[in-house]
Amino acid sequence: MKQVEVQIPEIFNPLLQTKIRYKLFYGGRGGGKSYAFADSLLLKARENNIYVLCIREVQDSIKESVYKLLGDRIKHYNFTDFRVKADSIENMVTGSKFVFKGMQDTNNMNIKSFEGVDICWIEEAQKLSAKSWEILDPTIRKEGSEIWISMNREEERDPIWKAIAVNPDDRTFICRVNYTDNPFCPDELKYQAEKCQKENYDDYCHIWLGEPRILGNKRLISTVDVHRAQEPKIDKSDSPLVVGVDIAREGDDKTAICFRRGRWQYRLDKYTKLDTVEVANILTNIIKEHKPARIFLDAGLNGYGVYDILSARGYGNVAKAINFGGQAINKDRYANKRAEMWGELRDWLHQEAPVQIVSDDDLAEDLVSVEIKHDKDGRLLLEKKEDVKKRIKRSPDSGDALALTFAEPVYENRKENVSTFGNGNVSLEQLYRDEMMTNSNTW
Ligand SMILES: Nc1ncnc2c1ncn2[C@@H]1O[C@H](COP(=O)(O)OP(=O)(O)OP(=O)(O)O)[C@@H](O)[C@H]1O
Ligand SMILES: [Mg+2]
Repeated sequence: MKQVEVQIPEIFNPLLQTKIRYKLFYGGRGGGKSYAFADSLLLKARENNIYVLCIREVQDSIKESVYKLLGDRIKHYNFTDFRVKADSIENMVTGSKFVFKGMQDTNNMNIKSFEGVDICWIEEAQKLSAKSWEILDPTIRKEGSEIWISMNREEERDPIWKAIAVNPDDRTFICRVNYTDNPFCPDELKYQAEKCQKENYDDYCHIWLGEPRILGNKRLISTVDVHRAQEPKIDKSDSPLVVGVDIAREGDDKTAICFRRGRWQYRLDKYTKLDTVEVANILTNIIKEHKPARIFLDAGLNGYGVYDILSARGYGNVAKAINFGGQAINKDRYANKRAEMWGELRDWLHQEAPVQIVSDDDLAEDLVSVEIKHDKDGRLLLEKKEDVKKRIKRSPDSGDALALTFAEPVYENRKENVSTFGNGNVSLEQLYRDEMMTNSNTW
């Protein structure tokens, strides 16, 4: 029988190509994790003699384990070199062996036999107890041995997540993968995901985007507001264009550029690995082509450099560098500029008038991931960006870019007092505040 070509989605390449102790893939339903792990292990087992331990927290019968999936994949690929036995799978050519165990059924006696394991696959790892992890991790001790972890996060405090993902070291690779990353995701699953997205956005985030369930309500922006804003309803606006630019600080961060007119955020561009001049060139083109009223740049690290270039090119009146840690306009309500921008963004999303943002999973996740804190005077202060990063495993660049469009009220024409701050209607307080600001030459 002819063999079928093995196809593993690219996002899982590190399983086979990277030599690292811990490989953790997490995400929602249908991401292709189980299939990719199974396929990758089968390929490895055909190349070399490896001993693979497939672990779950509870395994009352071998049927609950990945034994069946591995068997199905062997059949699918017509791999005639494997023998599927009653309680193990073996490769007759290389001598590789797969065994299947539940941590709760192991005892001090049989745990010893794990010491020769080359790869330990923990499936459904969100269920692994802290005690099981404490036993397992030091038992997998063979030189060069690896621990592969696949999980759909349950709660913020899942023990294995706390143990290796909250403060990952350089022996840990972590990657989120969702159904949208899986080129083989069946249409039925996509349909179910989309239905869930419409009906219960919190469930969608948890089940399909792999976010932990939220305990308590500490979030600044609610998923309901974000979901409402994602539904298509607005497709034009006369309000002035405001562009927010979050400039990448570190290697994997993205430079995100967000376009907003009044209640309509209609475009989000993301770039990786741009230098200061490249960002300035992109913004110069945007200024020439789209004539924004204002471009607000995150001043951090590279932002001032970009601003200086734009300013030297004569765009100092359009571009403005915003210091996230700087003072808020409304000092009574917000502890710093970042809290003010995000607070205004929250109000903008929450106000009843129709509001529109682009449908983008990163943006949606960024918006709902920021948690509330207050300073000693009760003013809004957000949790540290590093803490958001730890939770979502990347920088909330898209959310920051949108928040930046709320850095200051923007007028097309000062006499008309058309503002794109908030809901597009200028409150008296706002007008007064703006007058004061203009007179005191703050901006
Ligand atoms: N390499 C592949 N070839 C064909 N189909 C695939 C492949 N990988 C994944 N699929 C399809 O995608 C579906 C989801 O994959 P998988 O079960 O591995 O996801 P998962 O991330 O483990 O999610 P879950 O939380 O549902 O367990 C599979 O049921 C299968 O239909
Ligand atoms: Mg799975």
